[in-house]
Amino acid sequence: MVVLGIESTAHTASVGIVGEDAKVLSLASDFYLPPTGGIHPREAANHHVEVLPSLVGKALEAANVRPNEVDAVAFAQGPGLGPCLRAGATVARMLSLAWNRPLVPVNHCVAHVEIARVLSGLDDPLLLYASGGNTQVIAYARGRYRVLGETLDIGVGNFLDKFWLGLGGTFPGGPAIEAEALRGTELLDLPFSVHGMDVAFSGMLTAALALHAKGAKRPDLAYSVEVTAYSMLTEITERALAHRGKEAVVLGGGVACNGRLREMVRVMAESRGGATFAPPKSLCVDNGAMIAWTGHLAFHAGVTTSVEGSAVQPRQRTDLVPTPWRKD
Ligand code: ATP
Ligand code: FE2
Repeated sequence: MVVLGIESTAHTASVGIVGEDAKVLSLASDFYLPPTGGIHPREAANHHVEVLPSLVGKALEAANVRPNEVDAVAFAQGPGLGPCLRAGATVARMLSLAWNRPLVPVNHCVAHVEIARVLSGLDDPLLLYASGGNTQVIAYARGRYRVLGETLDIGVGNFLDKFWLGLGGTFPGGPAIEAEALRGTELLDLPFSVHGMDVAFSGMLTAALALHAKGAKRPDLAYSVEVTAYSMLTEITERALAHRGKEAVVLGGGVACNGRLREMVRVMAESRGGATFAPPKSLCVDNGAMIAWTGHLAFHAGVTTSVEGSAVQPRQRTDLVPTPWRKD
């Protein structure tokens, strides 16, 4: 079975084609980069409308798959920015109707989790999903993914991006901060905001920008922001492991590209006798292949939608969607 998946929740327009056993046959992506500042939803959506048709063509060609060999069309239904989601959903509906193939709705957060889980080979790990808009510690229980802990304000990636913009940088902040942090030597004092298994980042954002205004060195600031933010994530992950009696941790989402975060979680999990895994970077960031793979799982479990019932859901939380392909 071959599934074509469309991702368009925020900056990234992407089409992935995935075969059995999560074999990624092709992945074609194009990123909307705002000229200045943060993302403008309408402009990002216009970008996606412009590039998605040719990304579909590129993905089919690269996978050497003809339209009549595609068995289902999956799309990210939510969460995300309404105009961006609608751009991807419109293309998915059109392909589903034109090719006469089932349309499969996919939750974007669950897709980050499922691609990381299948590549890890671990059946039932704890999941740390760290991206721009979302930061959640997740475990499966009784029919859906449960959010054990999460950010109380902004996602860790949005925090990094805003911090970097405040220093005069451009989007995305995460990779640039990672490079800058490698040259940092002094750990500056920043608020460490862990509440049970939840975290918050806005206090640290204010404090880090205040230190910048006072002339703190950029490498030290970048280093301190990374160490503090990733210590917070490592701590809530450890708390969740202890509570759930689980050992293995799988990382997903764009911030899981980060070498320091991967290493900190690895050291923590190994000290508890557990394993960790993070997907290759191209499958940590937003991508159509994760939508296609989750579409596979959902379709096999009988999840499809009519065009009429396929409205996008900008606020669709991880723990709102049933995952009938997972067994207790
Ligand atoms: P979601 O809807 O899942 O929140 P998203 O729109 O934020 O997704 P992703 O591609 O999952 O998109 O994540 C993008 C985020 O990942 C950005 O905030 C970016 O700064 C961050 N990021 C990417 N690479 C790195 C890195 N090496 N270190 C830290 N952060 C990174
Ligand atoms: Fe994402």
